[in-house]
Amino acid sequence: MDGRRVLLIIPGGIAAYKCLELIRLLRAQGAEVPVVLTKGGGQFVTPLSVSALSGANVYTDLHGLIDEAEMGHIRLSRDSDLIVVAPATADILAKMTSGLAGDLATAVLLATDKPVLVAPAMNVKMWEHPATMRNVAQLRDDGIRFVGPASGALADGEVGPGRLAELSDLMTSIEGMLADAPVVDRPALVAVASLAGMTALVTSGPTFEPIDPVRFISNASSGKQGHAIAAALARAGAQTTLISGPTDLPDPDGVMVHRVRTAQDMLAAATAALPADIAVCAAAVSDWRVAEPNGTKIKKGGAPPVLNLIENPDILATLAAPGPDRPGLVVGFAAETESDPDALVTIAREKREAKACDWIIANDVTPGTDTFGGDHNAVQFVTEPGAESWGRLEKVQVAERLVARIAAQMSAMAGAA
Ligand code: CTP
Repeated sequence: MDGRRVLLIIPGGIAAYKCLELIRLLRAQGAEVPVVLTKGGGQFVTPLSVSALSGANVYTDLHGLIDEAEMGHIRLSRDSDLIVVAPATADILAKMTSGLAGDLATAVLLATDKPVLVAPAMNVKMWEHPATMRNVAQLRDDGIRFVGPASGALADGEVGPGRLAELSDLMTSIEGMLADAPVVDRPALVAVASLAGMTALVTSGPTFEPIDPVRFISNASSGKQGHAIAAALARAGAQTTLISGPTDLPDPDGVMVHRVRTAQDMLAAATAALPADIAVCAAAVSDWRVAEPNGTKIKKGGAPPVLNLIENPDILATLAAPGPDRPGLVVGFAAETESDPDALVTIAREKREAKACDWIIANDVTPGTDTFGGDHNAVQFVTEPGAESWGRLEKVQVAERLVARIAAQMSAMAGAA
């Protein structure tokens, strides 16, 4: 299921809690699992628990998804390879049969052109009621696939068909349907407007630290990853400020760009961009600067100059330090010449703690990898609980995945507040 996207719709049934385990199983197989939690579903499982497991967006409200320029629920209904409704109640089956679209779940189901798998779970009498049987027959005719219900003791004490299908059966049906479903060619997008109303700042590119007016010391960095992240944040609706060292890249659409040269200028621009909800430090900041750059060009011929270097301020550590202006989520990078993934994660974990940031994206920049200047990046995503390997992706895809994670985290934090 690597890279496939299964949109899970969780209506309000007692078996909703089982879907938490379903999310875990799907993700363990490599699937992305965005979730639509109906109002009823939210009575049984919380958005926070769902988003913690899903690691992707959890959508709860139709109107939150409607952007003036673009209908978010339409996009949501088309972006997944498969839609799973579990536990499907008698109510949602009736709504699907009638084509009602009064909330996000039903609007997505009506708007989708993707395969839909339904796992009913309800009281046995409700399941056997002629109205439900009619609805199921109609939905089957419409091409909707069913798994279950299983028979047995139900939560309400009655016995008969009505239990949610076993998760192993659900997984088998999902695997089978995914194998037949065409892979959705997802455009470069993340959940529409999921960061609307939020502010983000991103550092990107190298810094140039002058030796004299014509020479400088610097770090290798194209700025491609940082710029892609700023663009993805802006697409997701965040008001985004990009603080860019010298690069050849054009300004990303919809992003406010401050161009700087030195680490000190970058720090000043970053702190001026506060307060912000999200900070992502992708810049390859030069760790040292020349203590006293020469005012005029140093001429050769004499003894080679000895450069007296002093350490630059750490922008990431400054932004992540506790204080009233600390962004709610601070993300750093760790560029290391370390090709052993376990050792890379260990260094990244130490860096995360040393700099007090929330997440670190670690990558191996050993010569021979095409990270510097290239369009790809193989990263480890390191958070407090653990590390995930994202494999080798285009930098644009790394940016999208990161922004989807940021959106999920911000919505979980908002739900918890
Ligand atoms: N960083 C920063 N300011 C600095 C140095 C680094 O904001 N003066 C940020 C980078 O943007 C990145 C993270 O810190 O998000 C780690 O950068 P990296 O170069 O991997 O590590 P350093 O802190 O420079 O440490 P070292 O070079 O010793 O590994």
